[in-house]
Amino acid sequence: MEDNKILEVNKPSLAPPSGGGGGSIHVFAPATVANVVCGFDVLGFAVNAPGDEVIMRLTNKPGITISKITGDDGRLPMDPAKNTVSVSVQHYLQSVGRTDIGLDIELHKKMPIGSGLGSSSASTVAGLFAIKTLLGDDSDAAKLLPFAMKGEEMACGHGHADNVAPALLGGFVLIRSYEPLDVVRLPHPENLWCAIVFPDVDVPTREARQIIRKNIQMKDAVTQWGNIAGLVSGLFMNDIDLIGRSMKDVLVEPVRSMLIPDFYKMREMAMELGAVSFGISGSGPSVFAFTKDEDTAHRITQKLQKHLTGLKIGSNGYVSTINDAGPRVL
Ligand code: HSE
Repeated sequence: MEDNKILEVNKPSLAPPSGGGGGSIHVFAPATVANVVCGFDVLGFAVNAPGDEVIMRLTNKPGITISKITGDDGRLPMDPAKNTVSVSVQHYLQSVGRTDIGLDIELHKKMPIGSGLGSSSASTVAGLFAIKTLLGDDSDAAKLLPFAMKGEEMACGHGHADNVAPALLGGFVLIRSYEPLDVVRLPHPENLWCAIVFPDVDVPTREARQIIRKNIQMKDAVTQWGNIAGLVSGLFMNDIDLIGRSMKDVLVEPVRSMLIPDFYKMREMAMELGAVSFGISGSGPSVFAFTKDEDTAHRITQKLQKHLTGLKIGSNGYVSTINDAGPRVL
């Protein structure tokens, strides 16, 4: 049987839990755009901002506590048995045989929950990267992916990797296979800019997955795999126009776009302003556009946000290149 490619890492030789910085660490992990329009559950990329932060401290009492969560309007559980960050960290500690240590976690949400920007993934990845660094585990970050996927499963009922993998590895990522897990980091043009707008409406991923059709027509499958191959080719060839014309989704977007206010109008406005592509970020409601320069990306976020204001819908806008670094210690 084929091995899990992502798990081909050495068992770490862990340092004692002395940890850098006096046994505490502050980590940032980035938001992500999953699906990238045509690659449902198999493509995603990380952005520079927004992102979530975790402060983790070693304590004397074995077990995990969560002492503070900010930026969540009280929506996330403080109970370590129910919070995706602590649960993922606990799975990691079990796998490396270090359930003897004590940890306290502070989670600082710096992006909206249920936004389609990989909010739970960013928190989970920040927590996992923090514990791995605290324990001096120098094995490949990819080793954390199965633990991060457990967090995703807890957050929305399905352990997909198209948010957690780019949040963890940085850059543009393809999930070539889930069983066995095989994750491929893809190149991308340096000057590919991303304009993101989050319209402040609630679209829980769990529900956005339930409305998707379970069966697809062969002709739609042909369109879709042509586009995925076109997008990946464009990434390798540095061909932003090929990337743009390949970002079409005949499977998921026609259904999910109904959950997003004025989705097609926003697409029309973004394309008129010079976007090379436009679509739903993850399961929505955030939308994103690729552009060839920063100015165009700013013009798009401004115009779409103004349009949403006219509809009496609040919004956040973000402009970023693709973040190749993934999580980092602050
Ligand atoms: N691929 C996932 C979806 C991303 O579209 O449901 C959201 O977490």
